[in-house]
Amino acid sequence: MKNTVLIILSLVVLSCSNNYDTYKSIDHSLADYNIIPKPSHLEVLKGSFKIDENTSIYSDSLLNTETDYLESTLKAITNFSVTRSTKKDDSKNIISLELSDNIKAEEGYTLEVLYNKIDIKAKTTKGAFYAIETLKQLLITTQTEPETQEYLIPATRILDEPRFAHRGMMLDTGRYFYDIEFVKQFIDLIALHKMNVFHWHLTEDQGWRIEIKKYPKLTEVGAWRNGTEIGRTPGDKSDNKKHGGFYSQDQIKEIVAYASLKHVTIIPEIDMPGHNGAAIASYPYLSCFPEEVTKMNDNIISEKTKELLDSGVKKVVQESWGIKADVLCAGKESTYTFYENVLAEVAALFPSKYIHIGGDECLKDNWKRCPHCQEFIKENNLKDEEELQSSFINHMSDFLNGKGKKIIGWDEILEGKVTPNATVMSWRGVTGGIQAAKQGQEVIMTPREPYYLDYYQVADTINEPLTVGGRGPNTVEDIYLFNPLPSELTESESKNILGIQGNLWTEYISTPNYAEYMLLPRMTAISEVAWSKESDKKDYEEFLQRLKVFKKNYIKMDVNYAKHVFKD
Ligand code: ACM
Ligand code: ZN
Repeated sequence: MKNTVLIILSLVVLSCSNNYDTYKSIDHSLADYNIIPKPSHLEVLKGSFKIDENTSIYSDSLLNTETDYLESTLKAITNFSVTRSTKKDDSKNIISLELSDNIKAEEGYTLEVLYNKIDIKAKTTKGAFYAIETLKQLLITTQTEPETQEYLIPATRILDEPRFAHRGMMLDTGRYFYDIEFVKQFIDLIALHKMNVFHWHLTEDQGWRIEIKKYPKLTEVGAWRNGTEIGRTPGDKSDNKKHGGFYSQDQIKEIVAYASLKHVTIIPEIDMPGHNGAAIASYPYLSCFPEEVTKMNDNIISEKTKELLDSGVKKVVQESWGIKADVLCAGKESTYTFYENVLAEVAALFPSKYIHIGGDECLKDNWKRCPHCQEFIKENNLKDEEELQSSFINHMSDFLNGKGKKIIGWDEILEGKVTPNATVMSWRGVTGGIQAAKQGQEVIMTPREPYYLDYYQVADTINEPLTVGGRGPNTVEDIYLFNPLPSELTESESKNILGIQGNLWTEYISTPNYAEYMLLPRMTAISEVAWSKESDKKDYEEFLQRLKVFKKNYIKMDVNYAKHVFKD
C-alpha cells in the first residue's frame, strides 16, 4: 500500500516536471525548421519545448482573441487543453504572448522557443497572430509518422516581419459558386501563409453572388444559370444543369467576422462596366439595348434558356465563357443610380478601406452605337469611348471616396483619363503597374504570368484537368523566381507597389477539390515572395526542401494539393 502511494506520487511529480532534462539537450539542424514563408531571421537552438497537459498560456488581455486561437489550435493538433496562467512564471511549462513596442514593424513579431518556455512578442495583434501561425507550422511539420503523441517544438529564436503590406489571394465565385464552408477554408489557407487579403470576386456575366436588399432580382434571377458549356470555349454543348447560389448579407457578415479573427481583410469586387450579364438579366434597363436578346453561343444554350428566349424573355444569364458585348450603359442616369445604391450596400457590409470595381475587359461596341452613351460623350466633352469608361470609373470612385473608401481597378482603368486615388491591379503583365507606380498611383502586382492560378501548373499537360485557353504553365518555380518589383522602377517608385496577389479564376474550376489542386502548392510559393525579404527568396531548391515538409500543413487541413513537385 505504502509503495503504491509512493509510486503514484513520484509519477505525479515526474509528469509535472515535464522531464526537462530529456528535452533540454536535443540537437537540431536547419532542416528541422520548415516554415513558409521563410522568416527574416531564424536561429537554430538546442532543446525542444514539449506541449503536454501541464502547458499553460500567459497573455496580455489585449491578446485574448489570439490566445483563444492559440488554445484551440493546440487542442486541435495535440488534443491537450492548455490552462491559462495569470502570471509569467518561467520555471513552468509556459507560453507567453505579449505586446511590445520594441517590435518596430506593424505586423512583425519575435518568437523564442526554449526547452521550458515559449515567448511571443509583437507590436500588434496581427504580429501575435503570425507568431502563432509560425508556432503552429513548427508543431505540425515536426510531427513524425506515425504520430507519436509527443508534441515537441524545436527551440529557436525568430525575428520576422513582412516584405509587402498587401499579400492577397483572389477567388472568383462568379463563374462557379463556392459555399461559405469553402470560403472559410480559403481564408484559413490565406492565414496559414501569413497573407492578409481575400479579394472576393462576387459578380460576373455568369452569376451575381451577393444579396443586395434594394435589388432582389440580382440574386433571384442573376444568381442562377440554366446550364454551362461543356469543354473549353467554344464548347460544343450545354450540360443543361442549373447552377448558382449567392451569399446572403448575414452570411457575408459571418465571413467578414471570420476573416477578421484571422487578420484577413476582405476586398469585395463588384465588376463594372463590363462582365455584367447577370445584372443585366436581372434588370435589363442596365443595358444600352434592353430590347436586344442576350447574345449566346448558339450550340451551348441550355434547353431551359431556349424556352425562355422563345417565350419572349430578352436578357438571360450567360452560360458560356469569354468576354461579352452586352455591358452596362454608361450614358443613362439610371445605371449610375443603380450602381451607387449597390455600392452603398457593399461599402456598409465590408470594413475594408478598398472596394474593387473591376473595370476590365469592357467591350465598347454597344457604346459606339448607343444614343445615350454618345450623347453623354458629347455633353461631357469626352474624346471617345475610352474616356467614357474612365468617366464612369471616376464617377464610382468619387462616390466611394465620399463613403470613406478607395477603389481598386484592373489595369484597364489606366486607359482614358486618370482616376485619382485609384489603386491599380496590374494583370496584363507588369506594364500597367509600372506606368501607375511612375505616376504615383498605388499598385498591386498580379501579372497573369505567373500569378494566375487557373493556368496550367506544369508543361506536360496530358494528365492535367482542362484549363482556360490552355494557358501556362505557371509553375511553382516560375512563381517563386518571379521578381514583382520591375527594374524600371526607382526605389521611391517601388514604394508604390503595395504587394502581390494570386488569382484563381474559376471558369473551368467547378469544385473545391479542383480549386485546391490549382491553389496548392503554388499559393505557398506566392506567400513566400509576398512575405519574405528579397535576399532570402531566390534559392528554389532550398524552398522546395522546406515545401516538401511544409505539405504536412495541407494534410492536417485535409485539403487537396498538386503532387508534381513532390514526386522525386
Ligand atoms: C482579368 O483577368 N480579366 C482581370
Ligand atoms: Zn449606352
